[in-house]
Amino acid sequence: MLDSQANHGTLITLAKSRIDDMSDEKYLRVRIQSFHPKRPTTFDLYVLINGKYVLYRRAGDSFDDEKLAKLSQSSSEVFYIREKDRPEFKKYVHEQLNDSTLPSKEKALILRESSYALVEELFENPDVYQALDQSKEVIHNFVQFMEQEADGLSNLIGLSSHDFYTYNHSLDVCVYSLALGGASGYTKTEELMELGRGSLFHDIDKRHVSTDIICKKGPLDDVEWAQMKSHPLFGLQILNDYNEATDNMKACVFEHHENEAGNGYPQSLSGNEIHPMAKIVAITDCYDALTTKRSYNNPMSPTDAVNMMNEKLTARFDPDLLKALYSTLLQIKR
Ligand SMILES: [Fe+2]
Ligand SMILES: [Fe+2]
Repeated sequence: MLDSQANHGTLITLAKSRIDDMSDEKYLRVRIQSFHPKRPTTFDLYVLINGKYVLYRRAGDSFDDEKLAKLSQSSSEVFYIREKDRPEFKKYVHEQLNDSTLPSKEKALILRESSYALVEELFENPDVYQALDQSKEVIHNFVQFMEQEADGLSNLIGLSSHDFYTYNHSLDVCVYSLALGGASGYTKTEELMELGRGSLFHDIDKRHVSTDIICKKGPLDDVEWAQMKSHPLFGLQILNDYNEATDNMKACVFEHHENEAGNGYPQSLSGNEIHPMAKIVAITDCYDALTTKRSYNNPMSPTDAVNMMNEKLTARFDPDLLKALYSTLLQIKR
């Protein structure tokens, strides 16, 4: 949020803002880095100040150098666009992704940052089946980017948020899973779509687990554990009622807490009884948990996390996938 006095004053002067207090206008929250600073949007950008949406950048304007300097110091800033401009927003993102003159790194940033807004919406949508439908477009953007850009996924991985919100966690696990899936032989678009959607929604039922349990400092008691352990089964039930859910997607949801040694949940499957896509999600889920900043722990660095998983958690994960973490997530050739 832009809440400092300095920013507040500057914004109002720079944008010759008008206060937009039309109460029926709906807005979509988008991250600042969804937009290329030098490429004007075809829609207005707003900031939220004291509960009012204030025009910040008008359609057709680009950021000047002074604004750019300020923005580069505040990478977590959010903007708002009008709900009715959502198709224009998506069109803008697609145009940047299909622009052959834009470096892959800049495209990765735009893709990732713009996807947060869309994924946040998916996770806040009370209609889970509509969210599952809408996820196709988001995952398709990632799969297409992965297929079109040689360094696409490594650039995306380098941008991982390491912040904990369910949708950040889900998007990070999705990107890592696509990378690991690509490295372990899933190359067909259809399979990558299933892996992408299955991993994005691996914790689909966590919306029913209380946040007190999810964020609890210290061990869970028996009742809390029972609730936590129920999310793969209830997640599967959600997908069973979704006519587009495939077996691969269901496995990502139902089996991502199984482990190689057979002491995972809910079915205590071991080794090859576990679906290969679920093995991928299990390992990327753990990696993301270790490297993510939560209220109750300090995150590990990516290198420390991968080393620790290879040294101390070898019994839990597929050995080939464990090795592949070095080349996919750390981009280290071994
Ligand atoms: Fe889970
Ligand atoms: Fe998870």
